[in-house]
Amino acid sequence: MIQTAHTADLEPPALAAARALLYDVFDDMTEHDWEHSLGGMHALVWEGDELVGHAAVVQRRLLHGGRALRAGYVEGVGVRADHRRRGHGAAMMDALERVVRGAYDLGALGATDEAVALYERRGWKLWQGPSSALTPEGVRRTPDEDGAIYVLPGAVALDLAGELTCDWRDGDVW
Ligand SMILES: CC(C)(COP(=O)(O)OP(=O)(O)OC[C@H]1O[C@@H](n2cnc3c(N)ncnc32)[C@H](O)[C@@H]1OP(=O)(O)O)[C@@H](O)C(=O)NCCC(=O)NCCS
Repeated sequence: MIQTAHTADLEPPALAAARALLYDVFDDMTEHDWEHSLGGMHALVWEGDELVGHAAVVQRRLLHGGRALRAGYVEGVGVRADHRRRGHGAAMMDALERVVRGAYDLGALGATDEAVALYERRGWKLWQGPSSALTPEGVRRTPDEDGAIYVLPGAVALDLAGELTCDWRDGDVW
């Protein structure tokens, strides 16, 4: 069963299960990473009362080509290890891409190597230009993120070889 809900409409036990799932899936999970998944729409895969998959999309601003684009930024994508390769990842992305296409100028995410094939097959494009962040000290390059940022283009024209700048937040900026 796949559930799509805003953070505000999820009961505390469901949010606690999502947080626990992500700590289980990602060795380097932090509280900032969890906080980055909050405030937008979640896709949750339930098997009975057990949560086996989570993904979320939140709004961020991405600066590109002189515009502040409204981006649906995908966060916290994880499927429990013993439930992978059954289409849960694709089902969650179906749900979140519907939100991205209906509400945002583009989708964006920072991909793990493991998930690249899933995203590429679904039409996500590797950002080829330099990435940066709008920090309190101004725009700063984020070279470590180059090669891992994917976008789902919408109606707005994108130059994938141009610069892409994300808004500021605590923790990992991309
Ligand atoms: C990335 C991740 C979310 C994918 O979840 P998933 O539920 O396994 O995703 P899917 O089942 O939809 O697709 C994964 C693969 O299974 C295949 N698959 C889907 N349904 C299948 C089925 N019924 N039988 C066999 N294979 C199947 C897909 O074709 C895909 O193959 P590919 O990756 O070789 O192209 C999961 O591997 C994960 O949690 N990884 C660790 C955390 C992580 O890296 N998250 C991404 C952060 S950006």
